[in-house]
Amino acid sequence: MASGGEPPHPFPRPVDTGGSERIRSEELQRRLAGSAPPILLDVRPAAERAYARIEGDRAIPFAELPARLDELPRDRRIVAYGHFGEEGARAAKLLRASGFPDAASLEGGIEEYARLVAPELGRYAGPDTENGLLLLQLPRAATGCLAYLLGDVDEKVAVILDPGAEPEPYLATLAARGWRLGAIVETHTHADHRAGHAALAARTGAPIFLSQRSPAAYPHRSLSEGEEILFGAHSLRVLETPGHTRDHLSLRVADKVFTGDTLLIGSCGRTDLADGDPELLWESLRTKLLALPDGTEVLPAHFGARHALVDRYVSTIGLERRTNEALLLTSREGFLAYMREGWPPKPAEFDRIVGENLAG
Ligand SMILES: [Fe+2]
Repeated sequence: MASGGEPPHPFPRPVDTGGSERIRSEELQRRLAGSAPPILLDVRPAAERAYARIEGDRAIPFAELPARLDELPRDRRIVAYGHFGEEGARAAKLLRASGFPDAASLEGGIEEYARLVAPELGRYAGPDTENGLLLLQLPRAATGCLAYLLGDVDEKVAVILDPGAEPEPYLATLAARGWRLGAIVETHTHADHRAGHAALAARTGAPIFLSQRSPAAYPHRSLSEGEEILFGAHSLRVLETPGHTRDHLSLRVADKVFTGDTLLIGSCGRTDLADGDPELLWESLRTKLLALPDGTEVLPAHFGARHALVDRYVSTIGLERRTNEALLLTSREGFLAYMREGWPPKPAEFDRIVGENLAG
């Protein structure tokens, strides 16, 4: 539970700016459009610019900044930014201490800039279709949930992950493309919303796939580590990642991983609902998800303030390794302490929702 006035996980903590100014997103946007725009400096690692950048910026990764100061004018205002506020603030502090008195940073980083003034930056989205694989991310703003539709473009067969309670939008999407649904997958037993597998299975006849550890009472097919769900020429490969719940699965396809509530953007799933276990979550994060290549795209099951999360929908293993509150805790003890406190209030009637989701 939230305590001591601290913001819930994973909202950013106060940062040391070294006395440099922090500029809000609206103000930066106004200044960039003005007659004397500041120099905008992206200090993230170069590879991360591929996902999103602010138009008209320059880029010097923070690690290279001390050796590349001569590339920057000392008589201009420089506004440094990273993914979150602290990266830019750290760079502005360094610049001020290195003879750039007017160095400043973007408060909240590109994350907040995308949320407040440039929503087109927020999704960090790649192309919908790659190598005959269609991926649609289906957010539900009211609940902060993300479902996914994956499809083989040639064979017109789809898989849906973590559908919401109302099947109509998914049925409409399938019908519009002339596709059939080959499988429904729940990454875990949800405690915060009514799951949609039953309604969707009733309407399509598609089988429901769950972890072998699921205690669900309804007919389903069980999945265990390394098994695959085939759809056309593609497949989803199972990683068992217990912790948020004991029946939690992550699923890989191509260079992407669907992490459910095991790994969220900036944080991880809580373990104080249903049958969660922080020790299992530590093992799953460290031995399964952090073992994936840094370029692996991370597609979680939740987003947004309702879950004390950022509004961005997509990340990478590398970005999360570098910025995620839960992953930056490198000792088991520190992680277990993190899991014990600082979480938002539990969802209303979560135990009733779990019961209903297991029944049908
Ligand atoms: Fe969950």
